[in-house]
This record gives sequence, structure tokens and C-alpha cells, in this order.
Amino acid sequence: MRMQNGFPIIVGLLLFIGALCTPFLVGTAVTGTYKEPELKLPANEKNCVESKEFMREQHMQLLNDWRDWALRDGKRIYTNHAGKEFTISLQNTCMKCHNNKADFCDKCHNDAAVTPYCWDCHIQPEGLK
Ligand code: HEC
Ligand code: HEC
Ligand code: HEC
Repeated sequence: MRMQNGFPIIVGLLLFIGALCTPFLVGTAVTGTYKEPELKLPANEKNCVESKEFMREQHMQLLNDWRDWALRDGKRIYTNHAGKEFTISLQNTCMKCHNNKADFCDKCHNDAAVTPYCWDCHIQPEGLK
């Protein structure tokens, strides 16, 4: 008689305690496995205009410089640290290689909660999305 009543109570308690813990367990799992987003890199290119580290940290500044040089100074050619030349153009240079904006630029920006307003005017690549 007693066992018949006690058993469901214990099961109920265990389920209740389990339910209380769930948010913490799930929370740990999520933060524990967080890693940077997987970026879709250009298939046929190995190098960016500058090193990966430089680009990761400085691409916003580089784009600002590019715009200023192009619009204020009429300078349309960028020579990188290795002496290689690139046409100064967001659409025709950056986005030609990084034609998968959704799985490259956007992926990082979503994580960082930034929404560059460039695409109000500049055309995004139409290719793979
Ligand atoms: C209000 C519209 C507008 C917005 C918003 C805008 N641009 Fe531009 N941008 C232009 C125009 C117009 C040119 C001139 C195009 C030319 O002469 O080649 C230009 C030129 C540039 C150039 C140099 C030439 C080229 O074709 O790429 C760069 C680099 C550039 N913009 C970057 C940016 C970036 C980065 C952002 C976002 C942070 C941005 N722009 C936002 C209108 C805009
Ligand atoms: C010739 C093709 C090409 C051009 C042009 C190019 N990229 Fe890249 N970009 C790459 C490649 C390839 C990588 C990966 C480099 C590596 O893994 O070492 C990369 C890496 C990057 C990264 C770092 C990604 C990471 O993993 O942290 C950023 C940011 C970036 N590019 C932005 C830009 C911007 C902005 C422009 C224009 C100013 C641009 N790229 C122009 C090919 C290009
Ligand atoms: C490795 C991650 C990463 C990739 C890839 C990346 N960005 Fe960014 N981008 C960032 C971060 C983080 C910021 C915000 C940095 C800050 O505010 O200091 C940023 C900021 C910017 C800004 C300035 C926006 C603002 O409001 O200040 C522009 C413009 C920009 N990115 C363009 C691009 C373009 C174009 C591409 C794709 C060709 C690209 N980014 C790819 C991480 C990335």
C-alpha cells in the first residue's frame, strides 16, 4: 500500500527537480559549444587583399579608406602590403570574391549585431546566396 503511493511521488519529485535544472543544463551546453560562425570562403581564391588577421580586424577601416580615396582623391587602385594591386571597389572587388554575402559578411555581422548600411546603395552580389 505505502509503496504504491510513494513511488509516483518520488518519480514526480525527480521530474520536478529535473525540470528546475533544465534551463541551467541547456544554458551550459549552449555557451560551452559556442564557436565562431562557419564562413563561406571564395572557392577559387586563397588570399584576401590583405592577411586574414588584418582583414578580420581592419576591414571596416579599410573600406572607409577605400571610399575616401576613391571619392575624395580619385584614387582607384589599392596596392597591398605585398605590392599586389586591386581595383578599389566594394562591389567589383570585395564582393566579386565574397559573392556569398549571406554566409560570409552577414553571418559575422549577425553574430556581432552590426548592420552596415552600405547595401542601401551598393548592389549585393546576385550569385550564390
Ligand atoms: C547613400 C548611398 C551610399 C551608401 C549608404 C554607401 N555608399 Fe559607398 N558609394 C556611394 C556612391 C554613389 C559611390 C561612388 C561610386 C563611384 O564613383 O564609383 C560610392 C563609393 C564607394 C566606394 C569606392 C568605389 C566603389 O565602387 O566601391 C567604397 C569602397 C564604398 N563606397 C564603400 C561603402 C561602404 C563600406 C558603405 C557602408 C559602410 C557605403 N559605401 C555606403 C554611395 C553610398
Ligand atoms: C581575390 C579575392 C578576394 C578579395 C578581392 C577580397 N577577399 Fe576577403 N578574403 C578572401 C579569402 C580567400 C579570404 C580567406 C583568407 C585566409 O583564409 O587566409 C578572405 C578573408 C576575409 C576576411 C576575414 C575572414 C575571417 O575568416 O576572419 C574578411 C573580413 C574579408 N576577407 C573581407 C573582405 C573585404 C571587405 C574585401 C574588400 C575590401 C575583401 N575581403 C576582398 C578573398 C578575397
Ligand atoms: C570575421 C567576421 C566578419 C566578416 C567575415 C565580415 N565582417 Fe564586417 N564587421 C565585423 C565586425 C565584428 C564589425 C563591427 C566592428 C566594430 O564595430 O568595430 C564589422 C563591421 C563592418 C563594417 C562597419 C559597419 C559599421 O556600422 O561600423 C562594414 C562596412 C563591414 N563590416 C563590411 C563587411 C563586408 C562588406 C564584409 C564581407 C565582404 C564583411 N564586413 C565581413 C565582422 C566581420
